[in-house]
Amino acid sequence: MIKIAPSILAADPINLERDIRRVVDAGCDWLHVDVMDAHFVPNLAYTPDVVRRLKEAFSVPLDVHLMMDHPETMLDAFLKAGPDNLTIHAEIGEQLPGLLKAIRNAGVSAGVALKPGTPVEAVREIRELADLILLMTVEPGFGGQHLDPHVLRKISELRDSGYSGWIEADGGIREENLGMLIDSGLSVAVMGTALFEIKHPEELKHMISRLHTMGLR
Ligand code: DX5
Ligand code: ZN
Repeated sequence: MIKIAPSILAADPINLERDIRRVVDAGCDWLHVDVMDAHFVPNLAYTPDVVRRLKEAFSVPLDVHLMMDHPETMLDAFLKAGPDNLTIHAEIGEQLPGLLKAIRNAGVSAGVALKPGTPVEAVREIRELADLILLMTVEPGFGGQHLDPHVLRKISELRDSGYSGWIEADGGIREENLGMLIDSGLSVAVMGTALFEIKHPEELKHMISRLHTMGLR
């Protein structure tokens, strides 16, 4: 069954606990935390302390996505904060394999993310070091963008290559386009705007259950 991971980037920053409680109570599976360094992407978001408090406050797994040029500078701080998965970008270069091993050695699931323009080929050599591969369906940095349909082919390519880990997509995912992502082989959908724009708890519960049943086709 598809896993739904709300991106808290789309939650109301001054009512974070209220908004996150609503999506968790509605049946979401993971929480996705988009960390940004204002360098790898032109935006800035979330610290290890926020991850630590989220871990204390909510029982669902924490899926932390480091959009950072130099994740090594804060890897220990984020690992200590207690994430269940920690994802770094393939575009950081030769540090990638060592950092993925360091994440796994800390007992944390290791993820690698690819921007829309980065081919799946970029992770062929190191994919056995990754428990999760995140295929960005928008240019990283901001929520509320439109999904890039070209990434569908990357999902199928990765799944058809026999990769057995989590295949996650992030950006512009909505109820209307989730079905084709699942048909391509997606296992985890990061959704921000499409979930946090729904304010009514019952309506959100119904939406989440519709999304979950899509995966059961
Ligand atoms: C981009 C962000 C977004 C966000 C989800 O760096 O990672 O993809 O999580 O975006 P929306 O609001 O489009 O679901
Ligand atoms: Zn993300």
